[in-house]
Amino acid sequence: MSQPTASPFRAIDLIRKKRDGGSLTKPEIGYLVQGCTDGSIPDYQASAWLMAVVLRGMTREETASLTDAMLHSGEVLDLNFLPARKVDKHSTGGVGDKTSLVLAPLVAAGGLYVPMISGRGLGHTGGTLDKLEAIPGFRVSLSTEEFHRVLNTCGCAMIGQTEKIAPADRKLYALRDVTGTVESPYLICASIMSKKLAEGTDALVLDVKTGSGAFMKKEEDAVFLAELMVETGERMGKQMVALITDMNQPLGRMVGNAHEVRECIDVMRGEGPDDLRELCLELAAWMFYLGGVVKEIEEGKTFAAKIISSGKALDRFRQMVQLQGGDVSTIDDPSRLPQAGHRVEVRSPSTGYVTALACEQVGTACVILGGGRERKEDSIDPGVGIIVQKKIGDRVSAGEPLCMIHCHSETQATRAASLLRESYTIEPEALTLTSRPPLVHRLIKGKTATF
Ligand code: URA
Repeated sequence: MSQPTASPFRAIDLIRKKRDGGSLTKPEIGYLVQGCTDGSIPDYQASAWLMAVVLRGMTREETASLTDAMLHSGEVLDLNFLPARKVDKHSTGGVGDKTSLVLAPLVAAGGLYVPMISGRGLGHTGGTLDKLEAIPGFRVSLSTEEFHRVLNTCGCAMIGQTEKIAPADRKLYALRDVTGTVESPYLICASIMSKKLAEGTDALVLDVKTGSGAFMKKEEDAVFLAELMVETGERMGKQMVALITDMNQPLGRMVGNAHEVRECIDVMRGEGPDDLRELCLELAAWMFYLGGVVKEIEEGKTFAAKIISSGKALDRFRQMVQLQGGDVSTIDDPSRLPQAGHRVEVRSPSTGYVTALACEQVGTACVILGGGRERKEDSIDPGVGIIVQKKIGDRVSAGEPLCMIHCHSETQATRAASLLRESYTIEPEALTLTSRPPLVHRLIKGKTATF
């Protein structure tokens, strides 16, 4: 019987090297990732290494090596059997951020394939899987064969991370969650990109949120993370672009799972709020551009708008819902989606203009209602939610509704209502147009970009 080859590395030496500000090589990072995942490196050493990364950072090479090692810790889907390019979008998450539900069918209807592996909501930000599961019967856990079949049939499929995809991320994220090591752009980049690259896409559009409801509250932090992810993706042969977009207020007017599905259906019917529609068109345009369908972003937006007005995006969404086991009657009649029966209005205490919204608090209010999770194991109530009636720049009179809460009882809404009331800043003077937050703050292109 052959003996296992002894490793040339010891975890303690690599932890010390990073602690003292050194850069680890690709084989050294590979050794750490494999050992942390298979348990041969104990959790206390894994955690010490993660903390050293938080404090010392990583070079771009190390970040790419970490992403690569995490990506190859599990299955990497091979979608080369599909006859057109595969593109996806990833958002760093926000409140009312629901564009994925529109983008996947819209871009598929435009001739590309969208293999989307998404996550669940945690804390104040919602998750795509929770929104999809608000559609009765919709299955987000598909086998690889089913995923391929749905993708092949309707051009898009939306599922959750399987056990086989990036197991290193599952292990490392669980440790980061309890050791104060989530907040590192290098670790966030490797975590997100390892999962996204496992989907087998050719190109990826990143929507990196910034503002009071975002993970990255400061724009410079969002830009740093975006640049890191774009470079990492490019190093791994993917076409990448990142948009830094606004999360100083909820996107659209609906917050809460079934409510958000309804708002996406509105957009796919050519209706819905302007900001949500506009961001969907912008992101779709970049997906079409990277997928080689259009040569200019404006052309991509016009193309996306035409697909929506022709009804093809909604048809594609209906088809995907059916293929994934969902009740399609809810798409044709969204009033059949789950909804909590009680309504509570949150009224303005004064007259003036909305000049700011503490967006994270709106997300937290939804969690309090049961529409989100404080902890991973919490269950979700799909029918509760918040309709944001006044947004930044709007005029409001004393006593006029700011938001409408959909809940099951008055008492359930009390804490959420006071949080929502507090989240509004109302001032006598209106903001000038230029001081209102733009929808898209910046565009981050990679070094290899020709656009
Ligand atoms: N989302 C992820 O998937 N990973 C992180 O590290 C942070 C956010």
